[in-house]
This record gives sequence, C-alpha cells and structure tokens, in this order.
Amino acid sequence: MAKIELVRGDITEQAVDALVNAANSSLLGGGGVDGAIHRRGGPEVVAECRALRAGDYQRGLPTGQAVATTAGRLAARWVIHTAGPVWSSTEDKSALLADCHRNSLRVAAEIGAATVAFPAISTGVYHWPVESAARIALDAVADAPDSVSLIRFVLFDKSTYDIFSTIAG
Ligand code: APR
Repeated sequence: MAKIELVRGDITEQAVDALVNAANSSLLGGGGVDGAIHRRGGPEVVAECRALRAGDYQRGLPTGQAVATTAGRLAARWVIHTAGPVWSSTEDKSALLADCHRNSLRVAAEIGAATVAFPAISTGVYHWPVESAARIALDAVADAPDSVSLIRFVLFDKSTYDIFSTIAG
C-alpha cells in the first residue's frame, strides 16, 4: 500500500526515484512543469524524448499514456512523461486524466521506481478545475502497484495545495 503525501513545492527539487512530467504529446517540452523539468534536467532528457519520437512514438505520446526517460541532472533517476487531457466543459475526459496517473504508476512499477512525485496534472495550461483534478488524481492512485511505496503530490501554489488537502481529508 503506497503512502500518499501532499507537499507544497517545486517538483524539480524532489529527491524521489521518478518525477511525473505534465508533458504534451510532442514530448519536446513546454512551459510549467514541462519547462521546469527540461530546464533543470538538461539536454539528456530531451535527447531521450527525441529518440522516443523517432522510435515507438512517431505520432507523439497519446493523451493519458506515459513513458519514462532519464531524469538527467535532476535529483530523481527517471522522468515519467504523461500527456494530460485539456479541460473541456462539454466532453468528460476524466478517464483520460485518471489514465495519466495509472499509466505513470504502471511505468514506475516496470522501471523499478518505488517513490514517485506527481504534479497537479492538467490544472495549469490545460485549465482543468483543481477540485475535480484532485478527486480524479487521488482516486486513481489509491490502487497503486505494490512495488510503489510512496506517492508524493507536489503542489506549486497554496490554493492547489489547500484543495488537494481538503479532498484528501
Ligand atoms: N513544480 C510543481 N508544480 C508546478 C511547477 C513546478 N515546478 N510548475 C508549475 N506547476 C503546477 C501548475 O501551477 C499547475 O498547478 O503544475 C500544475 C500543472 O500545470 P502545467 O505545468 O501547466 O501542466 P498542464 O496543465 O498539465 O499543461 C500541460 O503545458 O507546459 C505545457 O508542455 C506542457 O503542453 C503541456 C501543458
């Protein structure tokens, strides 16, 4: 049974086995978490992302899927890139957001990452309401693989941290 932790902070400073990146399907970087991870991870990270795009992910990483690369110069060993769904008020994409978490944890188990840090996926540039995202995220990680011992949600701002804390109870 994985221990679930909520902390306020910067995901790039977490000394865990794997950091989950709120990436996009290009895998080639962006802003927010994606920008911070690539900036601090260094060129090794995007080099492995490019290799993925040249190999198994020529059409990009599908929304809800997850794939691991080196963490480069970050304190973690791996980055698990996942592409969150963009919020839609007319289409329910909750299953895809849940998939981001479940697939990231499946990949963590496959690579042997026992401690995993998640950002609040899709709640920034992708505009997913934080309360809804927190419910989906906390529910999705409840049945993590036995090999994952720690799941840490790293919330960047106080309001997101407070909402996750309220939902977590
Ligand atoms: N550490 C932890 N959380 C962070 C950090 C950080 N260094 N930087 C931003 N956040 C928070 C944001 O405040 C938000 O709560 O992470 C959450 C997710 O925001 P985004 O990074 O914008 O991710 P997302 O909403 O999933 O959008 C992904 O944005 O950066 C691009 O390339 C990325 O196209 C993709 C899209």
